[in-house]
Amino acid sequence: MCGIVGYVGDREAGEVLVKGLKRLEYRGYDSAGVAIMNGRMSIQKGKGKVVNLEKGIFANGLKGHIGIGHTRWATHGEPNDVNSHPHMSQSGNIAVVHNGIIENYTSLKKKLIERGRTFSSQTDTEIIAQLLEEIYTTSKDVTFEQAIQLTLKQIVGTYGLAIVNIEFPDKIFIARKGSPLLLGVGENEMFIASDASPIVEYTNKVVYLDDGEMAVVDKYSYEVKTIDDIALTKEVHELAISIDAIEKAGYPHFMLKEIFEQPRSIADCMRGRVNVKENTIQLGGIADVMEELVNAKRIVIAACGTSWHSGLVGEYLFEHLAKTPVEVEYASEFRYRDPLIGEGDVMLVISQSGETADTLAALREAKKRGAKVLGICNVVGSTISRETDAGVFTHAGPEIGVASTKAFTAQVVVLTMMALATGMKKGTISKKEAARYIKELSLIPDKVDQILKECDENIKKMASLFTYAPNFLYLGRSYNFPVALEGALKLKEISYIHAEGYPAAEMKHGPIALIDEMMPVVVIAATDHTNDKMISNIEEVRARKGRIISIMNSENSDVKDLSEFSISIPSTVDCFSPLLTVIPLQLLSYYIAVNRGCNVDQPRNLAKSVTVE
Ligand code: F6R
Repeated sequence: MCGIVGYVGDREAGEVLVKGLKRLEYRGYDSAGVAIMNGRMSIQKGKGKVVNLEKGIFANGLKGHIGIGHTRWATHGEPNDVNSHPHMSQSGNIAVVHNGIIENYTSLKKKLIERGRTFSSQTDTEIIAQLLEEIYTTSKDVTFEQAIQLTLKQIVGTYGLAIVNIEFPDKIFIARKGSPLLLGVGENEMFIASDASPIVEYTNKVVYLDDGEMAVVDKYSYEVKTIDDIALTKEVHELAISIDAIEKAGYPHFMLKEIFEQPRSIADCMRGRVNVKENTIQLGGIADVMEELVNAKRIVIAACGTSWHSGLVGEYLFEHLAKTPVEVEYASEFRYRDPLIGEGDVMLVISQSGETADTLAALREAKKRGAKVLGICNVVGSTISRETDAGVFTHAGPEIGVASTKAFTAQVVVLTMMALATGMKKGTISKKEAARYIKELSLIPDKVDQILKECDENIKKMASLFTYAPNFLYLGRSYNFPVALEGALKLKEISYIHAEGYPAAEMKHGPIALIDEMMPVVVIAATDHTNDKMISNIEEVRARKGRIISIMNSENSDVKDLSEFSISIPSTVDCFSPLLTVIPLQLLSYYIAVNRGCNVDQPRNLAKSVTVE
């Protein structure tokens, strides 16, 4: 949800900012802009992608060694040139880029207008530039830093902020509350960014700003303090990601690269944790809280979107393997309904980015009410990973395509390992059963690889037949019901085709009315214990002339015979089935979207990291 970059050093700021914004474009791509200082404040901004901005910077010869930049996911005000960041104070001396939402902007704006300020945009962000300038220029003996602190105290909402003022031509001022911000520490140069991707090619030393903190940065040094002016000494972390991990590596899209990375990302997720020889699962990140997980009265899983779907798989896994009751909550709903959660409960929050505002709010609410909160995150150093009591990283590597793929499978692997480890400790699964599961889990990366190799061409062909279908229905049972939801979400978000996922048996309670000879129905029929029932559901669809596309185990000839198209995948134990069945669905949505000419990596209206509630 909006990406911020900043640079001060000896390089050409425009180049560093544009490169950084391109890496952050997954966070929003409605508009982009920069402010560069070089004796004066130069602004280049406009609707559309960072490539447009790049052309503008080049055409207008914007030069300088210090600047801030922004790529926007619109919240307040339509995505047009005027509403693009940076936003300026009335004098033009101060430029601000902002990620987040200012909730009291209407009342602040009204007061500022009454006091004579003129606004040029419809954004909440412009308030910050205008209020800051008013406080700085009208208060006696107030430094610019203090003016920022006073401004932030009047603001209700969330922000990651980078500010430059022509009066301080070598300094960038940053602040954070609710939206991520980090500082990259280089040799005589400093970088600012919403996440590590713009920084990683210059330095691996980073300082994460926490909520309520601000910093003043020049090319040689940085000073971090709270917005109450208490000086802080921050730990400098070493980044573990490499530049290769954030490039496309010859693939046409990040999404395809990330789909094909799954044999490796799943193996990485299990590495050092699953030991087939010794029949053990070791999860270092939750070792200290394992007793609490084993003794939990219940587990409440909170997440959004694809991560919520992996949470649903987690529900089946924990209830089946560890016999722990589980509830799965939309994080966005959790805290608004006075949730019954407290001591003895474990909350498990799942988030690829570790920055999703709703998930973070659910985490904080559960903590406040006394629950132990564990996290499953992909991004190391993210806010959620730092605020949970303990957690397990998915180690899937950076996920840049907006549609989540490898993060989903890695989350399901973590949930599987957690449920197995809990079940083994609780004694709800025997040693012999555990050995079978652990062995089978270790085979998953090879089976995913087999699916990618054997099914890709077939799915590509099938996608071309359904490219212009206006609707899709996805049906699954048991472990594959969440996969039906995930398949439908993947298709709608990148191809803009209306798709619905349903538990197969629920179809007859309504959605069956939609089925006719035009309706493709994707049935995920790869769980043995529901096979017969699934076949009945397929017959129900066929009787209404629906077009059956099945995802099935290779030996299941009954399903194959009933399907117009079938994708056959290797078999596994039912509870690991989602790790395999989701792969053809990811490919199907990818190829349909490409055929329709959609921007697969940056679908309209979406952003990778949703840091507003
Ligand atoms: C779908 C997708 C979103 C995210 C959701 C949660 O492909 O990417 O639905 O899953 O916004 O994001 P995280 O996992 O970062 O909390």
